[in-house]
Amino acid sequence: MIDFIGLAVVLLLAVAFGYLVKRAWGSKNKILKWVGVIGAGLLTLVFAAAFIGALVGTMRLNANFNASNPVSNVTVQATPEQLAWGEKYAKFCAGCHSGNQQLPLSGNNFGKEIPIPFGTLYAPNLTPAGDIKNWTDGEVIRAIREGVHKSGRALIIMPSNEFHALSDEDVQGLVAYLRSQPAVEPNTPPTNMNVIGALLMNTGLLTNQPHIEDAPKLAAAVNAEYGKYLADIMGCRGCHGEKLTGGTGFNGFPAPNLTEVIPQWTEEQFLTAFRTGALPGGAILDNAKMPYKEFSEFATDTDLKALYLYLHGLTPSK
Ligand code: HEC
Ligand code: HEC
Repeated sequence: MIDFIGLAVVLLLAVAFGYLVKRAWGSKNKILKWVGVIGAGLLTLVFAAAFIGALVGTMRLNANFNASNPVSNVTVQATPEQLAWGEKYAKFCAGCHSGNQQLPLSGNNFGKEIPIPFGTLYAPNLTPAGDIKNWTDGEVIRAIREGVHKSGRALIIMPSNEFHALSDEDVQGLVAYLRSQPAVEPNTPPTNMNVIGALLMNTGLLTNQPHIEDAPKLAAAVNAEYGKYLADIMGCRGCHGEKLTGGTGFNGFPAPNLTEVIPQWTEEQFLTAFRTGALPGGAILDNAKMPYKEFSEFATDTDLKALYLYLHGLTPSK
């Protein structure tokens, strides 16, 4: 994915303004000279910096991770329970991979909300009508947990940091669900970044993760280890911060420090908050800020109790 024309245009602009600096420098008219040198000089710097940035971004975008993130040659054979779990979990994908936020995951134009002409970026069609029909199960699993495309390049915006913790059994259930969806046409167009997109690749949008050798299954039970697993894969850290000490989610709302809040709650208060949105103090959670309804649909009582146990046991810290 290299925008040769875009790169050439930016380079030419840098050279052209550089040439104007030289011309202005030779001007007899003092005002023209300094306006020209400073104005064209600044533009030369801007386009030269943009060219270098776009070149680095292009290299990042095309970097190949096949060596560091090998594909496992697993063939998914999911039990009905695994498949059902995969379908439940797939709802967390629907916010991006579906136009109406519902299953099936028929893809969505991710770029259309972004007012910058960076190229084409869809959250791809993940039904059997999409590209992944030609991917092995191992390649799909790698894309989900490690953020690497079949081609070996890093994926853009795909939140593999949140899915990185998925156990082998759970990610296989998820892939089994993807394969079981109806084939919804049309397929989504391939990702393509122009020179502006290449520049943006320097801002942390590439989401590739370290390789996972094997991730053993964790039994669903009321213990802190399973609770931590749920906090990881349900994306709590994406909003409440890496250590759950508070943060700002992608939706822009400040999310409180859970290490200070939950140790003060009883298990019952915690379950009530997730099942009804009602907080101990009497306030009601706003689902647009904190998507408790989605979590409540996903989580069993065992899940919520495990999550509570884990969060309740955290040492309060700032
Ligand atoms: C925040 C938005 C977002 C969420 C949530 C998300 N994805 Fe993605 N995903 C993307 C984008 C954008 C791409 C395309 C990235 C690219 O081409 O570089 C992508 C690419 C993929 C790919 C590669 C497919 C292809 O044809 O290239 C797979 C597989 C995938 N996602 C699976 C999932 C699954 C499974 C989930 C839920 C567990 C999920 N994604 C959740 C945004 C998201
Ligand atoms: C999309 C961002 C987002 C995600 C994901 C998220 N939260 Fe929240 N959470 C928030 C925001 C924002 C608030 C504050 C809501 C408000 O002010 O009404 C909040 C509030 C809460 C509260 C109430 C705290 C209080 O002081 O009353 C609890 C408990 C909570 N979140 C737990 C969790 C857990 C556990 C997870 C993971 C399963 C999670 N959240 C995932 C954004 C998020």
